[in-house]
Amino acid sequence: MSKKTVRDLTDAQLRGKRALVRVDFNVPMNDSMQVGDDTRIRAAMPTIEYLLERGACVILLSHLGRPKGKPNPSYSLEPVARHLATLTKARVDFVETTDSDEATRAATELSVGEILVLENTRFLGGEETNDERLSRSLACLGDVFVNDAFGAAHRAHASTEGVARHLKPAVAGLLMEKELEYLGGALESPKRPFISILGGAKISGKIDVIEQLLPKVDRLLIGGAMACTFFRAMGLNTGKSLVEEDRLEMARGLLARAGDKLVLPSDAVVAPSIEESKSATNVARDAIADSQAMFDIGPKSSEQFSSLIAEARTVIWNGPMGVFETPPFDRATRAVAEAMAAATGNGAITIVGGGDSAAAVADLGLESRMSHVSTGGGASLEFLEGKELPGVAALEDKSE
Ligand code: 3PG
Repeated sequence: MSKKTVRDLTDAQLRGKRALVRVDFNVPMNDSMQVGDDTRIRAAMPTIEYLLERGACVILLSHLGRPKGKPNPSYSLEPVARHLATLTKARVDFVETTDSDEATRAATELSVGEILVLENTRFLGGEETNDERLSRSLACLGDVFVNDAFGAAHRAHASTEGVARHLKPAVAGLLMEKELEYLGGALESPKRPFISILGGAKISGKIDVIEQLLPKVDRLLIGGAMACTFFRAMGLNTGKSLVEEDRLEMARGLLARAGDKLVLPSDAVVAPSIEESKSATNVARDAIADSQAMFDIGPKSSEQFSSLIAEARTVIWNGPMGVFETPPFDRATRAVAEAMAAATGNGAITIVGGGDSAAAVADLGLESRMSHVSTGGGASLEFLEGKELPGVAALEDKSE
């Protein structure tokens, strides 16, 4: 069921009104306590500007880090508010509380065209428990609720789920809409061939995604250390590579069911340890020595993955192919990102799940050459697992 968005709000619902907007400004901070990467802030700007242009004032709620329900200056949103002020012409105020008379006063006194950033919602004990009193109190801060925090939509917290039950209209922001359109569109009506590339260390974290994607995709490409659990399940020697022994049975079952839909690497880049990257060599997947561990998929696999990407019309990628922070183990991740960028140019829909793969694409400067790079790590994974995201479920349906 598709959800109402800010676009469904009438002029009368916005002009002169207070839009309470949940954003995901959970951004990396650098050593001087400044915003280290503002991707998520920039991604929320279209919604903020949309509301301001229609005569609303905007009150922003977000979490930052995991301060465990207590105020902690290291997780203050104040530097984020200062950074936001550099991205907009609007006046940006910050108050260092969220649920208080001061916050209510600041929200009430806000003028049309202004932005108010409230302090980290996770400084409040009731946020993560989705406390009813807190949800009602947050709801009093605005006339309309907009959830643009796709990255936090898998959390049923007071500022994501609870508040939406008490403040109507409750609609999706433009970023939320875009995330749901790309990820949902790929799962529901992909242009074919539809392939997915999954990587990362552990099969255990991706098993639900594999189960969900397998019936939908034409090919499921597996890279990263999780490929080693499959290798072992096939009876191959994996040396010192990371293998989840307790998932071998599951891997065997998947191999039997998936047939040739599941594409595993045919070769590997190995070294005695991650510190000994200088002695990295390429070996076939059935030639990993006892003294070696796999840290990237090999060049032949990279090439095969790249040509499957080139033939695909829809590609979803989640999880790096190797330890991409440590060259030369970054090569296959780079190759996949480049193949996807080229596929976008040839008309394919290319979607990068958040987290590590999004970080790799950003490092390579290829963000603008993907159809969509998700701002949600855990959220995009849960979405791909077919789970309902509570922050989305609480918004109004189009038909309401
Ligand atoms: C994220 O960075 O994935 C989101 O902001 C959610 O953060 P959390 O995992 O601390 O809930």
